[in-house]
Amino acid sequence: MSSRRTASEAFEKVPTVVFTTSSEAAAALAREVRELIEQKNAKGRPAVLGMATGSTPVPFYRELIRLHKEEGLSFKNVHTFNLDEYYGLEPTHPESYARFMADQLFDHIDIPKENIHIPSGTVPGDRVFAHCRDYEDSIDKLGGVDLQILGIGRTGHIGFNEPGSSRDSLTRRITLDRITRQDAAADFRGEQNVPHFAITMGVGTILRARKLVLMAWGENKAGIVAKAVEGEVTDAISASFLQEHSDARFFLDTGAASELTRLKLPWLVGPVSWTPQETQRAVCWQSARLGRPVLKLVDEDYNENGLSDLLSEQGPAYQLNIRIFNRLQHTITGWPGGKPDADDTYRPERAQPFPKRVLVFSPEPQDALIAIGGTIDRLREQGHTVKLVALTSGSLRVPDAAADNFASTLLELSMTDSKPAQWAEQKSYSQSLLNIITEKGEFGEDPPVLRRLKALILRGELRDAAASVGLSSKEITFMDLPFYEAGRYRRFKTSKADADAVHACIKDFRPHQIYVTGDAADPSSVPSLTYKLIREALANCSKDDWIGACTMWLYRSKEKALEPHEIDMSLPLSPAQLDRKRRAMSCFQSLSSLEQNMPITNQNTAKLYDSLGLAEYEAMEAFQRARAGA
Ligand code: GLP
Repeated sequence: MSSRRTASEAFEKVPTVVFTTSSEAAAALAREVRELIEQKNAKGRPAVLGMATGSTPVPFYRELIRLHKEEGLSFKNVHTFNLDEYYGLEPTHPESYARFMADQLFDHIDIPKENIHIPSGTVPGDRVFAHCRDYEDSIDKLGGVDLQILGIGRTGHIGFNEPGSSRDSLTRRITLDRITRQDAAADFRGEQNVPHFAITMGVGTILRARKLVLMAWGENKAGIVAKAVEGEVTDAISASFLQEHSDARFFLDTGAASELTRLKLPWLVGPVSWTPQETQRAVCWQSARLGRPVLKLVDEDYNENGLSDLLSEQGPAYQLNIRIFNRLQHTITGWPGGKPDADDTYRPERAQPFPKRVLVFSPEPQDALIAIGGTIDRLREQGHTVKLVALTSGSLRVPDAAADNFASTLLELSMTDSKPAQWAEQKSYSQSLLNIITEKGEFGEDPPVLRRLKALILRGELRDAAASVGLSSKEITFMDLPFYEAGRYRRFKTSKADADAVHACIKDFRPHQIYVTGDAADPSSVPSLTYKLIREALANCSKDDWIGACTMWLYRSKEKALEPHEIDMSLPLSPAQLDRKRRAMSCFQSLSSLEQNMPITNQNTAKLYDSLGLAEYEAMEAFQRARAGA
């Protein structure tokens, strides 16, 4: 795919290539790397690659491994320099970048060990400066980096160059930003376990590479990517410095590209085919921009804001406004399962059959309740049969403190009972648990019994939370999908066993309605992986008689909220319902900052409807319709 600038990319200050999927992008980049290695090796020179960690490069590393194993690509004459390492972690620590690189790439290719360079996480404090200087020197000695691979953090960092890193910064020890530590909290089972420091190549070091490719996937990254690509060059977003490099490119999937002007506001960069969705997007954008409700927009507004072709095709404004207003109005319903005995024509969901069998998929136990707790509440209240399926155990998120609490309480109980002999087994069991927690230390890996306990703690939290929206434990299914049990965040890999389990779950229940999330998420995330499993399972049910009548509703868990033109159903929540949802959320100990924001997201959706000129509600949960059939 070419990265030459076109008119539609006028707003982008660095060449940006948008791929349909991350796998396509990863394959394209792997092909480039292959050519680079072959060209340099043909000249008898080593290729020098700059490597990144995180979930983003994982599909690229899998493709390199495939090229090595299936197509004979050799890494014998390749040197690598990694961007960064957590300071304080041994190379054997499961979350160290040294271990990550070994697991994800180096152990599967023929690169000589001495060609691998990763900053040390354990160099003593008084040697850090010398270590960093040596790192710079060894890059220079090999003639510099030929191609540097990059990801991007939510703060816009490359490597670990947090906001404030200067254009000329070199390899050094830095303090991690609060947001970065929150984003790593699940990896380390709690923010308190995330190291505070890291050693990272500087922005200046990175920009010395001859070529740079920054990859980003999923809607979570869309906002920061747009700022880095279209905004000013600033040390507040170190990725924006790529604009100043002569051979830097962004490789994005459509989710990560979704905030770029060419995708978000395409009429500003060229002719647009005015589909109903695109029309609605333009009208809502204009209303928000002018701060005026849809029904108050006039012909001049359209003409003056680059929408004259829309006006000439679908105007006058008065009629166009009414059409869009009605479409928005029809998305609002208090009856997510359909309203019995009502005319269906303009309702998002049909009345029949009633009651419906409703399957709500939650990638991790907390996801669905946090995102659509109000809808679950309504469905159950309106008589539908709701089955909430927690697809994975979520145990990796549960902090040691929760397990410690449980074991300590059990121990105390065993000692305060009047018949201590009867409690001997519980006493020794709780003591052994406490020993396990102490012995493994704050960074150690959880042995199976501890993971099991953590999973059960989360089950309890989900049961409590579900009860506050009226769902009993009988209505919750825990699937504990194997890919989650065997993996770690940012590098999970699903298998046939996962696919079979999801397929069996759907087939048995024969749902009339499915609620699901993950379509727009980072492809390595639990919501995205489980979404793919569900789609695959539904494709396998395509010959079943029930599937044609099954509707599927997408919700957003941690990704950016749906925009008005994407919403097909919007469920208003009263202040009391939003409070119930907050109460449900308070049952979960391990929520990330993104999840905690969900009630605010729901309130923002309601404010948006209000500003477009529709009724003013306290909060709204929003959904997009998807086809359940393949
Ligand atoms: C960490 C790494 C970065 C990486 C970022 C994003 O901060 N130091 O190099 O780009 O995480 O991680 P992910 O790819 O998992 O989104």
